[in-house]
Amino acid sequence: MPVLYHKPPPPSDDKRWKIVETRMRRLGDRPPALIEALHAAQEAFGYLDTDALNYVGDTLGVPHSRVYGVATFYSFFTLKPSGEHTCVVCTGTACYINGAKDILAGLDRALHVKPKETTADGKISVLTARCLGACSLAPAVIVDGDVKGKVNVGDLVAQLEAM
Ligand code: FES
Repeated sequence: MPVLYHKPPPPSDDKRWKIVETRMRRLGDRPPALIEALHAAQEAFGYLDTDALNYVGDTLGVPHSRVYGVATFYSFFTLKPSGEHTCVVCTGTACYINGAKDILAGLDRALHVKPKETTADGKISVLTARCLGACSLAPAVIVDGDVKGKVNVGDLVAQLEAM
């Protein structure tokens, strides 16, 4: 008798999960897709948190222990950053053309923080992602889960400094 297999629902209705889900489906939703699926999740969110790791593992039928092992073994994976707040800067094509580089430079100048780093006071972690699915709003960033479009560097720095 065939085993009925129910795929787990995405951790939230954030549409970036659709990108991850589609990639996993194209790869057959099977354990060998683990590394590529983790890449897809990291490209979309900038890092891997426990929700992402568990969702990928459950979808592909890989035990959580193995997923965590793989995610911590390879240096190209970034686990949820240590800062109190997270600012993910999109460096996908549309955002890059529209000033993502200036945003990163502005954060470095004002807060002395580069991608994959956390400010000295532990407040803000900065990450990059390849496309947040909001290209019409380029340049886009996500601060603590909130998408911000047509970002002005000065306003962003002011917001982060006030956190
Ligand atoms: S390239 Fe930045 S949101 Fe798509």
